[in-house]
Amino acid sequence: MPSYPILLAPGDGIGPEVLEEGLKVLAAVERRFGHEFQYQDAVVGGAAIDEYGIALKDETLEAASRSRAVLFGAVGGPKWDDPQASIRPEQAILGLRKGLGLFANIRPVRANPLLLGDSAIKPEILEGVDMVVIRELTGGIYFGRPQKRWENSRGRQAVDTMRYSEREIERILRTGFELARGRRGKLTSVDKANVLDTSRLWREIAVELSAEYPDVELDHLLVDACSMHLITHPATFDVIVTGNMFGDILTDEASVLAGSMGMLPSASLGRRRRNGTGIGMYEPIHGTAPDIAGQGIANPIAMILSAALMLRHSLALEDEAAAIEQAVDDVLSEGYRTADIEFGGATPVDTARMGTLVAERLSP
Ligand code: IPM
Ligand code: MG
Repeated sequence: MPSYPILLAPGDGIGPEVLEEGLKVLAAVERRFGHEFQYQDAVVGGAAIDEYGIALKDETLEAASRSRAVLFGAVGGPKWDDPQASIRPEQAILGLRKGLGLFANIRPVRANPLLLGDSAIKPEILEGVDMVVIRELTGGIYFGRPQKRWENSRGRQAVDTMRYSEREIERILRTGFELARGRRGKLTSVDKANVLDTSRLWREIAVELSAEYPDVELDHLLVDACSMHLITHPATFDVIVTGNMFGDILTDEASVLAGSMGMLPSASLGRRRRNGTGIGMYEPIHGTAPDIAGQGIANPIAMILSAALMLRHSLALEDEAAAIEQAVDDVLSEGYRTADIEFGGATPVDTARMGTLVAERLSP
């Protein structure tokens, strides 16, 4: 029997609540398909600051690198939000991404036909929205040095550095070309080439690489224009590839297309084996939502779908992943909704009930 060591990092806020529902669904997968997942628990983020004084212990990173995947909740919250603090919950997520070499963040955005009425955007604009945003995750302004604050006679100063190397740009663009090739063959590279040198290098490399992918139609879009097109004609996008910070911003925006942040999963991947699998970290794109934490009303679907991505991309269990996605669609089509995706006529459910419903649909 193959072994599937998985590190669980629930984190803060609604992280633990939604992860619990993810595990409920994975338990149903174990029963139905005869697998056994081996879990190890890790304290990360604000919870780790409270317990150990740091957001990510070395042992946690080591345990992660020995696992086949990390299932991650969310980190952060008002309790640790002091802007002066040098120890911050977010260091856990950034440290895991960097430490595991997870340079490609894959965020699929689909306007579920069942939820078209729930979005703030008109249903006719949302029709056919089915895109994947690939965000570079271990470079750019998130990690460039120098990054610091200081004070001089002219007052307080701060600097962040946007830096990209050819190697970093090439590997993420290749991820984009490869993915587009297996979908509708359209790749939109998003940058700010009218202002930034990192973006001009990015665009240059994209054009060079496109010669190797004649079957993929490449176009370029400035990030500000992209943010507008995502709202005015989102269905025209197939695969978007972009840098770390642009991807962070655009994916929160794109989540509106899916009805709610509570719907969007993500996969963070590093180098792949020949069969396409490799270690990855899987997490909802939403944060810790401190305003609703502990109330049992968060939507666990982003987490449940993240677990499906984990089965697909790190454990090579495609049928199992598809079964979870189908179960989620079944439950939605039966009209069950958490508060964030609720509209007239739906059956309101809480976090735990949503998890149970999805798990039940998976049971034979
Ligand atoms: C995300 C989050 C993180 C990021 C934060 C929590 C550091 O917003 O995964 O999109 O900016 O990458
Ligand atoms: Mg974000």
